Amino acid sequence: MVKIWFMDNEQTDQRLEHHRSPPEYLELADLYKKTGVEYFKINADAYQSDEVLTQLRAKRGYTYDDEITCSEKCLPDYANKLKAFFTEHLHTDEEIRLVLDGSGYFDVRDNEENWLRIQVVKGDLIIIPAGIYHRFTLDSNNFIKARRYFVGEPVWTPHNRPADDMDCRKSYIKHQAEHFVQFNKV
Ligand SMILES: [Fe+2]
Repeated sequence: MVKIWFMDNEQTDQRLEHHRSPPEYLELADLYKKTGVEYFKINADAYQSDEVLTQLRAKRGYTYDDEITCSEKCLPDYANKLKAFFTEHLHTDEEIRLVLDGSGYFDVRDNEENWLRIQVVKGDLIIIPAGIYHRFTLDSNNFIKARRYFVGEPVWTPHNRPADDMDCRKSYIKHQAEHFVQFNKV
C-alpha cells in the first residue's frame, strides 16, 4: 500500500526518507481531502489490460501516453536533473504517473505549508491535480520507470513557485477549500 508521511525540514539529501521524529503518517483518504491527490492500484505487469486503468483512461480522456526511465545511467547530468525535479512548481494540467518499476517520492504541499511525501512503487498510479505545488525526487535506489498519461497533446511545462496568480492555482485553492468534494470523481 502507498505510504504517505509528513516531512521534516532537514536540508540533507532529498533522496532520503525525511521522516519527522516520531514519524507521522497520513491515510490515503486524508491525502485526498487535504490535497486532491488521487491514487489507484494497477497491475503493472499487465497494465494494458488492467480494468481500473482502462476505465480511468476512458472516463478522464487520457488519450496520450508514453514511458520514461530515470536513473543515473539514463539521465546525463543526473545530480542537476534531480535538483530540477525537486524545484517546487505547479502545472496547468494534471500530472499522471504509473510506476512500472523502481520507486520515488512525490512531495505535495498541504494547505498549511507542510510537505507531504508520497512514496510510489511498482503498480502505483498517482494523479497530481493541476495547480498544486509539488516536486519529485528519486529515492536512494536511483531508479524509476513510469508511464505518463495526458489529455490531448502533452504540456509538461513546470511553473515554479510563486505562481499564485495563475487560473489553475486559483481554481485549485477553491476546490481545496471545499475539500475536493465531488471534484474529478471517477
Ligand atoms: Fe510536476
